[in-house]
Amino acid sequence: MSERPRLLPLLGHTGHGGRSAMTCIYRCGNACAHPVPNESDNPYFGDVVNGEVTRRGVVRAGAVGALVLGFGGAAAGALTGSPALAAPGDPTPALPEVDSFTPARPGSGNGALTFKPIPPNKLDNLVVPNGYDHSVVIRWGDPVLPGAPGLDVHRQTADRQAQQFGYNNDFVGVLPLDRRGERALLVVNHEYTNENLMFPNFTTLDALSVEQIRIAMAAHGLSVVELERVDETGQWKPVRKGRLPYNKRITAWTKFAFTGPAAGSAWLRTKADPQGRSVLGTLNNCAGGITPWGTVLSGEENFNQYFVGADAAPETLKPKLARYGISTTARYPADSRKWDRADARFDLAKHPNEAHRFGWIVEVDPFDPEATPRKHTALGRFKHEGANVIVAKSGHVVAYMGDDERFDYLYKFVSDKKFMKGDSWAARKNNLSLLESGTLYVAKLDYTSADEIDGSGTVPADGAFNGRGKWIRLVRGNTSYVPGMTAADVLTFTRLAGDAVGATKMDRPEDVEPSHLTGKVYVALTNNTNRGVGSNPKADEANPRTNNKHGHVLELVEDRGDNTAESFAWSVPIVCGDPTDPSTFFAGYDKTRVSPISCPDNVAFDGAGNLWISTDGNALGSNDGLFATAIEGPERGHLKQFLTVPLGAETCGPFITTDNRSVFVAVQHPGEITGASLENPASNWPDGDFAKPGVVVTWRLDGGVVGS
Ligand code: FEO
Ligand code: CA
Ligand code: CA
Ligand code: CA
Repeated sequence: MSERPRLLPLLGHTGHGGRSAMTCIYRCGNACAHPVPNESDNPYFGDVVNGEVTRRGVVRAGAVGALVLGFGGAAAGALTGSPALAAPGDPTPALPEVDSFTPARPGSGNGALTFKPIPPNKLDNLVVPNGYDHSVVIRWGDPVLPGAPGLDVHRQTADRQAQQFGYNNDFVGVLPLDRRGERALLVVNHEYTNENLMFPNFTTLDALSVEQIRIAMAAHGLSVVELERVDETGQWKPVRKGRLPYNKRITAWTKFAFTGPAAGSAWLRTKADPQGRSVLGTLNNCAGGITPWGTVLSGEENFNQYFVGADAAPETLKPKLARYGISTTARYPADSRKWDRADARFDLAKHPNEAHRFGWIVEVDPFDPEATPRKHTALGRFKHEGANVIVAKSGHVVAYMGDDERFDYLYKFVSDKKFMKGDSWAARKNNLSLLESGTLYVAKLDYTSADEIDGSGTVPADGAFNGRGKWIRLVRGNTSYVPGMTAADVLTFTRLAGDAVGATKMDRPEDVEPSHLTGKVYVALTNNTNRGVGSNPKADEANPRTNNKHGHVLELVEDRGDNTAESFAWSVPIVCGDPTDPSTFFAGYDKTRVSPISCPDNVAFDGAGNLWISTDGNALGSNDGLFATAIEGPERGHLKQFLTVPLGAETCGPFITTDNRSVFVAVQHPGEITGASLENPASNWPDGDFAKPGVVVTWRLDGGVVGS
């Protein structure tokens, strides 16, 4: 690793946890500086659990524009904007040669991790274990579409950016394209932009030209990039020659179709879209997942910061906007991106419903570049971190989801229809409609040691932070289970539905991912420094620390091993921090042998079922990184640090190929440190000049696997 001299900007005050104040402003609109949006008393209705409420009188969607659609079936799929599928006899849509999405053989997730952990550090480099190498696969501004120009920050335009790799890569998915394992599609989210690190002579957001705002809009969204393996190693690089038929950019202007029960509802109608069935663009796409049918899901997260003018929104709408973190007291909330200067639909004074058209789970089919991407209303609307799908024993598919906000909730969706194996036309058509109809649930947790929780993180006498939980039904199709709310209300204002049924307030639920080997589900709870502070909710057994700076990981085991079950057991296997801190816990493993970890954000599994965890906002003084641990057997809790990212960056992705030979991460916002600029970067990664977000692949030099 080279240690080149560099100009460091003056360090300003730090923001939330270990984050630079600049991260707080650009990434989430300074969410932590604003009041917690969940002010609900969130009463615990003992009787508002599933069947009970239906006896009290099911609320059906009103006539106001709701629910023109039926459920399931070809017609619904067509109406709700399912991708145009080739009919039998038509030219076959582009499909991979391999069915790589069959769940791996049942295993235990106790694979031996073979790398020697790296130490925490503050180097401006990507650091990997001895015996490993890494390379940058693609970085901000690299060409994606054939013929696209390379990055020249002095000649950048929105049109050029819309052909290039976007900014602040977050979710990473790699989908194989051929049987030999030599070609693949890389699918990446671009969550947000750091204008001060993108534009020469940046002063303030207000001083940006309209074209510069449009460049930022074009740097959002997703990228699809065809990759090829390098020399039979674990290294991958973009294919640069040929037609590149799959390569695609999705931006803030790409047309999406709404599906599901809230599509067409009054909440989604605007002047530009009086039918409420389509919307331009996707915003603040954070984490995501690959479905068993080979599409990509992506979560629209901190969409609130793109909107202005809510002070002039209809009074009846203001509480609903505020619950999603949109300021209703000022035309221009502090730290607003003010995209209304480039596109009037971001002005809620003129287009009050436009905000409701963001905050959804989107599905993109990377194998069908012509298909219209979709926003699935059946999966609810909140600050979606991401969604990860597993096929339950019954064949129904289950999507697990987190709402990344302090004191918000954990959700799951169970499809009405069943997954069909294979890639026949019929199976593909069926599977592409699975997320259009089903049941949405929110989690309510019970405790075994409630009286012992004092906020210190001391493990209770029964040896565990643990308990049982219920999935509380919110809505199924056009049927609402929440008194006073229609189905469209519940799906569009899902946070309010969660409040009404007494869902459990969590410490920022981020990535939620089931292990395909065991069916157990892992939840990254990043942090919550408001826990137990002032009038905020106190520590509980599932969120056991006051002023939770370092976060924790929750494990859910669904009853009967059935991912469609309405009840589960839960425990906290990892309470993060420096292992010398008595409030940390690593599943009972010898703490002298584990790596310090802070602020878990994304989780992933390798082919052996080991749990990989990336971090965002390390509050222990190190750069962010990627960690791995066995999650079953005697090595459970033996957490080891695999890599660190450069200064100011957050570790996103991660993605481990099922052959365990390649570990991908997204290096998001390198050099995002208060006072930094393009001319005075806080990081020179990856090219030695100014900082650029990029996707990295890591592999073992001897061709071996990271875990076996
Ligand atoms: Fe975009 Fe929840 O991190
Ligand atoms: Ca307990
Ligand atoms: Ca995240
Ligand atoms: Ca994050």
